[in-house]
Amino acid sequence: MNIGVVIAAAGQGKRMGGPVKKQFIELAGKPVLLHTLDLFVGLEYVKEIVVVTAEEDVERTRKLLAAYPQALVIPGGAERQDSVYLGITALSSSDYVMIHDGARPFLSCSTLEKLVDAVRVKRAAILAVPVKDTIKRTDETGVVMDTPPRKSLWAVQTPQAFALSDILAAHEQARKDGFLGTDDASLVERIGQAVHVVEGEYTNIKLTTPEDIVFGEAILKWRREREQ
Ligand code: CTP
Ligand code: MG
Repeated sequence: MNIGVVIAAAGQGKRMGGPVKKQFIELAGKPVLLHTLDLFVGLEYVKEIVVVTAEEDVERTRKLLAAYPQALVIPGGAERQDSVYLGITALSSSDYVMIHDGARPFLSCSTLEKLVDAVRVKRAAILAVPVKDTIKRTDETGVVMDTPPRKSLWAVQTPQAFALSDILAAHEQARKDGFLGTDDASLVERIGQAVHVVEGEYTNIKLTTPEDIVFGEAILKWRREREQ
């Protein structure tokens, strides 16, 4: 059983800003994208990794990943969903796929293994953490409409893992319908397939806004201290 990996790294990082796109920022002396890739290399069931980058970054990323022969670098699309679709269609020998954000480099091995165990049994499994804050829904004027019970709410992360044939069918249906989701699981949900939540980690953050770099450095420091 082979599990392919698609790393979505074709975004422009507008919310992060700054001169270097967030997937290429160095943390502890190593670009974020390499931290992310290192989560998956060496896993015996991962035979192919597709890294999707912006067209203008394909060449530099190929150079950056020269030491990773199992990684294929391809150009992405305008939306994350387009980039992921291009990534999953580039897989050639995988039965399952884990789709992961290039800008989410702090996942731990044990959580990754829990996800892999789940997808083998359930076909569709995603990482998520219980929300800590109370969430409210508002109307367009900012007035609260309702307060969904917190115990049913999860903040969803990546990787999201699927049987390859299911996620391909889900993406093709979404394209046909002009549906744009904010994650891959939502495309699978709308074709009626059950998606199972596996509890992730609060440290599995996506680098999104500038303060996330500070949080990221702190996560790495905390890990180093615990390992000593
Ligand atoms: N992504 C992608 N293709 C796109 C847009 C996003 O592969 N067309 C990737 C990003 O590179 C990132 C992940 O999807 O690793 C999550 O997206 P997000 O955090 O929104 O990153 P950006 O789109 O780069 O950031 P922003 O929305 O602030 O511009
Ligand atoms: Mg984005």
